[in-house]
Amino acid sequence: MISLIVARSKNNVIGKNGNIPWKIKGEQRQFRELTTGNVVIMGRKSYEEIGRPLPNRMNIVVSTTTEYQGDNLVSAKSLEDALLLAKGQDVYIAGGYGLFKEALSLVDKMYITEVELIVEDGDTFFPEFDVAEFDVMIGETFGEEVKYTRTYYTRKK
Ligand SMILES: NC(=O)c1ccc[n+]([C@@H]2O[C@H](COP(=O)([O-])OP(=O)(O)OC[C@H]3O[C@@H](n4cnc5c(N)ncnc54)[C@H](OP(=O)(O)O)[C@@H]3O)[C@@H](O)[C@H]2O)c1
Repeated sequence: MISLIVARSKNNVIGKNGNIPWKIKGEQRQFRELTTGNVVIMGRKSYEEIGRPLPNRMNIVVSTTTEYQGDNLVSAKSLEDALLLAKGQDVYIAGGYGLFKEALSLVDKMYITEVELIVEDGDTFFPEFDVAEFDVMIGETFGEEVKYTRTYYTRKK
């Protein structure tokens, strides 16, 4: 199963100055729960931002310029190669923009967390996609100062 997991603001921002432009208690819990024990595929810049392999899951970093090799860490030159490396396992594509854009036609499921913020001057956005290709389920809303809502997109058969 190929899934995509992202959190985006109301104005579709996912990144600003190399970081995720919010820090909301609990928002990343779903990411941790879903990806642990599975495979995470991410772009080089997202990996560099984290700075180390995420524990207890296979990390595949997509990069044409840098090779990574370590405990639970490997690199691939393209999304296609990354998916081949992960064949037969549950894969979560974790951004950024280029990987999301390429993955949109391949994913079975998307976990999109809608963060109730307008982010000014964002520089990385979630790509446009055709909602009609998916069944959409709106999940729970959490958060105190900033609310966030889990949403689930499952590709129509
Ligand atoms: N809100 C969220 O859920 C979320 C999730 C992830 C990231 N982010 C944010 O997004 C920003 C980073 O995203 P980004 O789009 O700028 O960078 P990115 O996708 O993390 O990294 C871009 C790099 O990854 C490699 N890459 C990406 N797609 C590729 C492909 N299809 N084939 C080969 N290589 C590929 C290239 O590396 P080389 O140059 O080495 O070839 C490219 O320069 C940060 O601000 C981060 O915090 C947010």
